[in-house]
Amino acid sequence: MCGIVGYIGREQAAPILLEGLSRLEYRGYDSAGVAVFDNETGALAVHKAGGRLQVLHDRLRGGADLHGTAGIGHTRWATHGAPSDVNSHPQVSRSGRIAVVHNGIIENYSELRAYLTGQGIPFRSETDTEAAAQLIEYFYSGDLLAAVEKALQRIQGSYALGILCADCPDQIIAVRKDNPLILGYGDGCNFIASDVTALLGHTRQVSYMEDGELAVLTRDRIQCYNRQMQPIQPKPVAIDWEIDAAEKGGYEHFMLKEIMEQPEALRRCLSPRIRNGEAVFEGAVLNQAFLETMRRIHIVACGSSYHVGVAGKYHLERLTRRPVEVNLSSEFRYMDPIVDERTLVIVISQSGETLDTMAALREARRLGAPVLSLVNVVGSSIARESDQVLYTWAGPEIAVATTKAYTTQLALLSLLALWMARRLNTVSDEAYQAALAGFQALPEQMEAVLSRREEIRSFASQSSSRSSMFFIGRNLDYALGLEGSLKMKEISYIHAEAYASGELKHGSISLIEQDTLVVALGTYGRLFSKAVSNVVEVKARGAGVLALTTDSRKEEMARIADGVMTIPDADDLFLPILGAAPLQLFAYYTALLRGCDIDKPRNLAKSVTVE
Ligand code: G6P
Repeated sequence: MCGIVGYIGREQAAPILLEGLSRLEYRGYDSAGVAVFDNETGALAVHKAGGRLQVLHDRLRGGADLHGTAGIGHTRWATHGAPSDVNSHPQVSRSGRIAVVHNGIIENYSELRAYLTGQGIPFRSETDTEAAAQLIEYFYSGDLLAAVEKALQRIQGSYALGILCADCPDQIIAVRKDNPLILGYGDGCNFIASDVTALLGHTRQVSYMEDGELAVLTRDRIQCYNRQMQPIQPKPVAIDWEIDAAEKGGYEHFMLKEIMEQPEALRRCLSPRIRNGEAVFEGAVLNQAFLETMRRIHIVACGSSYHVGVAGKYHLERLTRRPVEVNLSSEFRYMDPIVDERTLVIVISQSGETLDTMAALREARRLGAPVLSLVNVVGSSIARESDQVLYTWAGPEIAVATTKAYTTQLALLSLLALWMARRLNTVSDEAYQAALAGFQALPEQMEAVLSRREEIRSFASQSSSRSSMFFIGRNLDYALGLEGSLKMKEISYIHAEAYASGELKHGSISLIEQDTLVVALGTYGRLFSKAVSNVVEVKARGAGVLALTTDSRKEEMARIADGVMTIPDADDLFLPILGAAPLQLFAYYTALLRGCDIDKPRNLAKSVTVE
């Protein structure tokens, strides 16, 4: 969602801000803006534009025309007020002296607005953020920090704020509550950003602000304060992501690059966790004492991360014989969940910043449950608030539609299921060793799947003109269908729905007609014959069928389906991981034929930091 960048240093700020914003484009946005303190006029120069960042970039000639060495920038994903120049950030106070960029939602903004309007302060935009800018100015009488502090006492909701004031051109103030904000430490310059990718080109030293913290940045120093306004000293950490990991590297889209990176991502995720013939997971939550008392597992996540949970449930229950429940974070947080200290709550999140997942995590911890998180972004809020975190180490994922984060999350959860089974004595020695060997072979098998990408591309011509698709499957294939159909709808805008094959006759089969494409998933060997019956059933009603199965069953499937994609034969544990890749490619090539904006699909955001 929205992105924040701020810079204070000795170089011209605007080009740095624009470059930083371009690295945040992937988060999803619909307008952009910057504010820079102009030494010559002694005022803030604010420029904003609806639409792509390129519009603003061109208007400002890459920032060349905007002089000044301190500034803040923003990409906005509209929540309050339509995407437009006036609603873009930075939002400025009445006099134009104070500019604010904001991620999150100010929940009591109508109240604040009514109050300030009553004090004779006119509002220009429809945004909640303008209330923050106006309120700070309302309290301002020469001491910006004091004004910000007072304003924060009145503001309710979630926010990461970057604040610039024309009277204090040598400082930027940053504040965080329930929305990520990162401080970057440079040489003679300092930064704020909502996401480390914005800083990769400038510094490797960052610290993550905690909830309730405030920071005052000058050129040579960052002074942080806790909730009680006592000075604190956060410890900067080094980011180990390379800048080229956040660039396209010759691929037409980040999504394709990230699909192709999956073998390497799986290697990075799995190999440090398999040592001397054993899976290694010990930690604050994952230990023998807890496992012996653990009664059940509860998985909580959103979007594709939720689909990982749906697939993982099959593995966890089969291997550990412990009951597993999977919930969407947005449901979990309000459902009065039955979890306690004997429930393992597993939270899954690529970004580590999804607001609903964060709230679910807090609810689980409040109820006494130990929380284990599977996260990609190191140092993210969810990682920091969990009792134990397992990083997927997939590297930065830029395309909005997740690919390598999904497969690494699922690989990690599957390996964890195996480890638990070993500890709980619910898996034989032989099966355990065979599965471990399978994990070690997984990156290579993924390479084999990706090497068939031209074949998969050829199927996209069958799908690109369809108006509707069903992804059907049973058990692991149903979980796979959830992710396959989400990929398709996210980036190609074709209506795509996942259905448990056994349920077809209870409703959806009435929608199958001549033009419908059914993607029939039949990788799960135990239920292959049932998958075949379902294909026959939908074909009889006129559907076109594209199937996905394993190599050894290709021939049989090819007798009834119109096209067949395959993955190598593998243990059940690996089917939804390997099976995800052809479906990602299928969605990608379909969207490509339809001319869609693949990396930044309309209305979607990479990291959903509002409810
Ligand atoms: C957004 C992204 C999805 C992602 C979901 C959950 O909708 O577009 O790709 O699966 O958020 O995000 P998380 O970062 O918590 O995994």
